[in-house]
Amino acid sequence: MCGIVGYVGSSEKKEILLDGLKELEYRGYDSAGIAVIEGSNLNSFKAVGKLENLVEKAKSFKADSFGVAIGHTRWATHGKPTELNAHPHLGKKSYVVHNGIIENYQELKKELIAEGVTFLSQTDTEVIVHLFEKYSESSEPFEAFQKAIERLDGAYATLLITQDAPDTIFFAKHGSPMLIGFGEDGIYFASSDTAIIGKASEVYYLEDGEYGYAKGSDVAIFNKEGKVEFTKKPLSSDKVSAQKDGYRFFMEKEIYEQSTVIVDTMMGRVLDSEVVLDEIESGFFDGINAIKICACGTSYHSALAASYLFERMAKIRCDVEIASEFRYKEPLLSSDTLFITISQSGETADTLEALKMAKRAGLKSLTICNVDNSSIVRESDVALLTRAGIEKGVASTKAFATQTMLLWILAIYIAQLRESVSKEQIASEIEAMRHSPTVLKVTDALHSKIHRLSKRYLHGHGFFFIGRDLFYPLALEGALKLKEISYLHAEGYPAGEMKHGPIALADSNLFTVALMPKTLLYDKIKSNVEELSARDATILAISPESFELADDFIQTKYASHPMLEFFEMMVVTQLLALEISIRLGNDVDMPRNLAKSVTVE
Ligand code: M6R
Repeated sequence: MCGIVGYVGSSEKKEILLDGLKELEYRGYDSAGIAVIEGSNLNSFKAVGKLENLVEKAKSFKADSFGVAIGHTRWATHGKPTELNAHPHLGKKSYVVHNGIIENYQELKKELIAEGVTFLSQTDTEVIVHLFEKYSESSEPFEAFQKAIERLDGAYATLLITQDAPDTIFFAKHGSPMLIGFGEDGIYFASSDTAIIGKASEVYYLEDGEYGYAKGSDVAIFNKEGKVEFTKKPLSSDKVSAQKDGYRFFMEKEIYEQSTVIVDTMMGRVLDSEVVLDEIESGFFDGINAIKICACGTSYHSALAASYLFERMAKIRCDVEIASEFRYKEPLLSSDTLFITISQSGETADTLEALKMAKRAGLKSLTICNVDNSSIVRESDVALLTRAGIEKGVASTKAFATQTMLLWILAIYIAQLRESVSKEQIASEIEAMRHSPTVLKVTDALHSKIHRLSKRYLHGHGFFFIGRDLFYPLALEGALKLKEISYLHAEGYPAGEMKHGPIALADSNLFTVALMPKTLLYDKIKSNVEELSARDATILAISPESFELADDFIQTKYASHPMLEFFEMMVVTQLLALEISIRLGNDVDMPRNLAKSVTVE
């Protein structure tokens, strides 16, 4: 949530900031802003809404002499998405940008107001710049910055520039991601490395509690023990930024990419007669008798699906928790439990904190993640990367597909170790895995059918996505996709549970998307759908088997393995959400109120 960039050097700063913010816009697009100090010149621009508004506003601005610059793209937490609440926030002669939440900002604000400070915004962030300026009255800038940071509780990645030190950026990180890039033309800061690729050749990922300054080309980092000796890592320059390549939206492109990225996820892991995971050292599973998975949103849904696979195939106890719930429930954790996190971004604050808690309790940890070097990857004992490539659409699609595939591989891997399934069964799982890329291919016929039929589903009083077993998490995911990009109310429900309450809602304006696989509990779900149809619900059935009570029917083809049916139905639900959202005229890739990476709790 929120993206920040910074730069110290002589190159044209506006372009550096705007390029970086473009890459970070997925983190929030309520407003954007930049501030530049060059000698005694201090300039800033802010605009509400997407980055293009800021680009327009700063069109004729140029900043190419030596100086410092910071930028921000906002996902609003405190205060509405207005220009006054947009970052950078200005004091008398300093600017600040921040990603995170300052939990004690009200207390600090009260104190500062009592001392005569006037606040312009409703944000928590503004306290940082006023604290800094208060301490600057009696201290050198770096000391003042240190004193300000010491007063903050909560999560922050923050950059501050001031006319008192026009060649310096002050930075601090605690709980929100930030890195420093080192390039020939200057020093860069960003929330994620995608913002500085092609500019910096080396990078240092700041740890929690680190702060410091970049002055010219000199960077000094400190923590509470003193000065930090840090080692830079090379930053590859070939991570090309994602382009739409002719698709209408990134989400659409990412749905189509699933059949190829799944191959990357399997590469070197799915062999002829076994699965291997080189990232896991032998002995890692010694003493492990249970698995707990923690995640949020779509990643939570892939975790739920995995729990069926872990118990069924690997015969290992598995429970799944929503990370934000797990954190505060005072969970009982025992060291024979492997703690698995799942995250596309690797930066989700609740998942990261849950992981830290589990580590403090002495649990071994493993993450399934899409972003190498992300905070969750760095914090975990073992990281299995999903290799989905950059996912730009806020609604997660290919990340979900690759997470689910990797969890399936992991379930078989553990089953091999525990010898809980026969060689024949492993062979049949592997054969099914190898079929997955074909199943994930979007055909023109399927896409046009969903496009045509989506017209019927633009109104009504809501959707139920129903499924059983593995298809219950898929129902949850289908409903989440639809609600986040169409703004229509949708719920995922276990089909067998409808009669315990929700069936009361059934009438012809209740749309039911029924996931009816042939390989798992077909007769059971069929009865559940019949019960709904008898009460006049409008049924969209997705199944290999034709279903006479369906108002609309999408016939699937691959009824040889539950996971193949899972992947095929997943694509159908993704396309359905996409087409409904496009018909409603929504911005599919940047749905209202959301951000791609949720780095606040
Ligand atoms: O990056 P993560 O996988 O940790 O993100 C978790 C959720 O924020 C994310 O899946 C969210 O629910 C997506 N918008 C779903 O499409």
